[in-house]
Formats: sequence, C-alpha cells, structure tokens
Amino acid sequence: MDPTRDNPIIRFTTFWWGLGTFFIFALLLAVIWFFNSSDPASLEDAAATPRYATKAKIDAAQAANISPDAINAAIAAEAKKLVSAKPVAVEKPEQIVPGSDTSKKMASAPAVDTSAVDKAPAVDEPVDPKLMEMGKASFLLCAACHGQGGEGTPIAPPLAGSDWVAGPISNLIRIQLRGLQGPITVKGTEYNVPGGMAALSYQTDEQIAGVLTFVRNSFGNKASGVKPEQVTALRSEVGKPQITAPELTKP
Ligand code: HEC
Repeated sequence: MDPTRDNPIIRFTTFWWGLGTFFIFALLLAVIWFFNSSDPASLEDAAATPRYATKAKIDAAQAANISPDAINAAIAAEAKKLVSAKPVAVEKPEQIVPGSDTSKKMASAPAVDTSAVDKAPAVDEPVDPKLMEMGKASFLLCAACHGQGGEGTPIAPPLAGSDWVAGPISNLIRIQLRGLQGPITVKGTEYNVPGGMAALSYQTDEQIAGVLTFVRNSFGNKASGVKPEQVTALRSEVGKPQITAPELTKP
C-alpha cells in the first residue's frame, strides 16, 4: 500500500473530519428546528383556534340568555303536551310493528262495513276525466307488475278482463290499502304469487280513486268510476295484514 495514501496519520485525520462533519450537520438541523418550532403543528390546528373562540362566544351568549330554570320549565310543559297527545290514526302499514300488541289487535279487528262503498253507482255514470288522467300516470307503477296493458305477467295476475277489477269497489280499495296475498283466481286461473302484493296505502285518496277508475275503464274493462270519498271511508283498513281472497266480497 502506498504510504502517502494510507498511513496512521491520514486515518486519524479522516476519522476526525468525518465525525466533525456529522456534528456540523446535527448542529445545522438543531438551528433549523429551533427557528421553526413555534409554527402551528398542522393546518387543522390553525383552523381550530377560531372555531374554539366562536364556540366559547356562543356558549357564553346562550348561558346569558336561557337560564337553566327556563329550560327546566320548558321540559315540563312539553312533557305535559306529550302525555295528553292522542295517538294518530295509522296512515302507513310501516307504523305497525310486526308481532306487537297493536299488530295483533289490527289483525283481529272486525271486518269493515263495505256496504256503503259497494252500493254501486250506475255503470253508465260518466267517469271523472281528471281522475282518469291521474290514474293513467299512477298506473305506471302497477304496470311494472301487472303489465303495460294489464295483461298480467309471471309476477302478477291480469287486470284486463279480471272479474275482481270490474267487481265490488271495496275489494279494490282494500287491496290498495292492505295489499293482497294467498291464492286468488283471476279469469279462471289460480295465482298465488310468493309475497303477494304489498300495500300501496301511501297514495292519497285521489290517487287511489284515480288509478282504480283508470283500471276499471281501460284494457277493455268497463265499470263505474271510484270516488275519493269511497277510499276515505275505508282508510281504517290501513295497518291490517295483507288481505286474502276469502276476505273479499265475491265479484
Ligand atoms: C310489486 C308488484 C305489484 C304492483 C306494483 C302492483 N301489484 Fe297488484 N298484484 C300483485 C300480485 C302479486 C297480485 C296477486 C297477489 C296474490 O297472489 O294473492 C296482485 C293482485 C292485484 C289485484 C287482484 C287480482 C287481479 O288481478 O284482479 C288487483 C285488482 C291489483 N293487484 C291491482 C293493482 C293496482 C291497481 C296496482 C297499482 C296501483 C297494483 N296492483 C300494483 C302485484 C303487484
């Protein structure tokens, strides 16, 4: 080995230069860190400061304006109103919890009196064109299962030529309000679609009257129109379990 390139003195100085350079960088880092350490740690912290200030202001303003006494008095007053409130009528089947006392009570409730609704108006009484228009629009939903022309599909029986459709109005209204399940014979064929038809009671009385007037006077069907008042008269059906064919009035 060439003694001018490697000897104990050169090794000695190289060692100390290396160590010195390491400490020079360490010192430089320490200086940089020292001059930057006072900045907020993150943008999030920077943004939070005014938020806390605003929250403190709001808390102070609320404490100054609403006394705990006022809050306690309001709770008592509202509680009294709640206790004296009457239960609202069932508007949607979803309000009935399956298996609950209310659900059992609804299931065993006496059958509604349908005679007033079925006191048939004359078939040749002209149907309300406004209801027909409304019904035509609503029928888009029925068409998804019953077919565009009410001809029936693998998932629902036909409405065209169905004795049920042309028959007692109360049947049709109750099917809308409660849904339908179990075997039902339509045009000589027995249908029993799993799950049946769900209640469509979210529709207004006008919408139900409209869609039923429409199906009773389309696809070759000819029957009297359905009036919104007839639907109103049977609203208490909502919340009862899906109706079955034997519960309906024979067409
Ligand atoms: C999700 C599918 C579905 C929709 C949507 C639907 N139905 Fe039904 N509907 C059925 C099924 C299924 C049955 C037969 C139930 C059974 O098997 O007991 C049925 C039966 C009926 C019946 C008695 C049987 C017959 O064919 O005459 C009438 C009437 C009826 N639906 C009217 C309507 C009307 C009106 C609408 C629209 C407002 C409608 N349905 C929307 C599935 C549906």
